[in-house]
Amino acid sequence: METINWKEVLLPYEQAVNELIVKFNSIKKAYNTDGVHSPIEQVDGRVKAISSIIGKANKRNIHIDEIFEKLEDISGVRIICRFVEDIDKVVSIIRERDGKDMNVLEEEDYVTHTKKSGYRSYHITINYPIYTVNGRKDIKAEIQIRTLAMNFWATIEHSLRYKYNGNMPDDLKERLQVCAEAAFILDTEMTTIRDELLEAQKIVQIKNNLVDEIISNIHNLYFYAKVEKMNEFNQKFIELYQEGNIDKLLEFNRQLDVMAKLYKVKYV
Ligand code: GTP
Ligand code: MG
Repeated sequence: METINWKEVLLPYEQAVNELIVKFNSIKKAYNTDGVHSPIEQVDGRVKAISSIIGKANKRNIHIDEIFEKLEDISGVRIICRFVEDIDKVVSIIRERDGKDMNVLEEEDYVTHTKKSGYRSYHITINYPIYTVNGRKDIKAEIQIRTLAMNFWATIEHSLRYKYNGNMPDDLKERLQVCAEAAFILDTEMTTIRDELLEAQKIVQIKNNLVDEIISNIHNLYFYAKVEKMNEFNQKFIELYQEGNIDKLLEFNRQLDVMAKLYKVKYV
């Protein structure tokens, strides 16, 4: 067996992780730009540490030559969501990309099929092509999709698992299972708040658009209306804006529209 030049061998895996992080962050940004709730809250990624790669290969009796074929999580991306429902959305976003810039190889649903430890997450293994100076290379990557609560639990449990090196005392295991149950309840409770939050975000969005429209209407009217009239409009707008009543703002905007039409008719 040749010795592995780890740095060189892991380079494409790093490229895959970096590209995937950029792509998922772009999706997040697109949602935020539209002012709607993004199913993606946070994107993390990593290349598995060399010691973990060797450790996992040993545990699974994988020969060193087969490591890169058989380990599917050398490239790992984690997508954190606010709500359980967002996980489904992210999964469908990834499925839509299947056969385009990535290929879905396997899905594991530990969200509805909670592991004995209490672990919950949705895993998707993909094949992701990268292009280097040496041409195309297909990289396997594991995408873990989970809520903030699931992530909190998994992070703590992982550290403890590491500390006890696989021999976690039973009472600690049980306490972690109780914590997992608490995280599950938190996610369920959050779901009931989700609709409320989405509604609030929608109202803010409508108001922002309306305010933009009013300001632009007022600007346009400056070309036609008298200064005193404009001062009146500005004053009225400030009052209504402070009051924050959307219906009144809508009505005001309608009046501005009418005014704009009147002035334009007079002008020509
Ligand atoms: P492993 O990666 O060795 O677990 O093999 P696998 O692919 O057969 O298992 P699985 O798909 O269940 O898990 C893949 C990854 O999910 C792991 O590398 C962990 O990051 C995570 N995971 C799975 N089970 C647990 C768990 O009980 N606790 C924590 N903290 N993470 C887990
Ligand atoms: Mg797996």
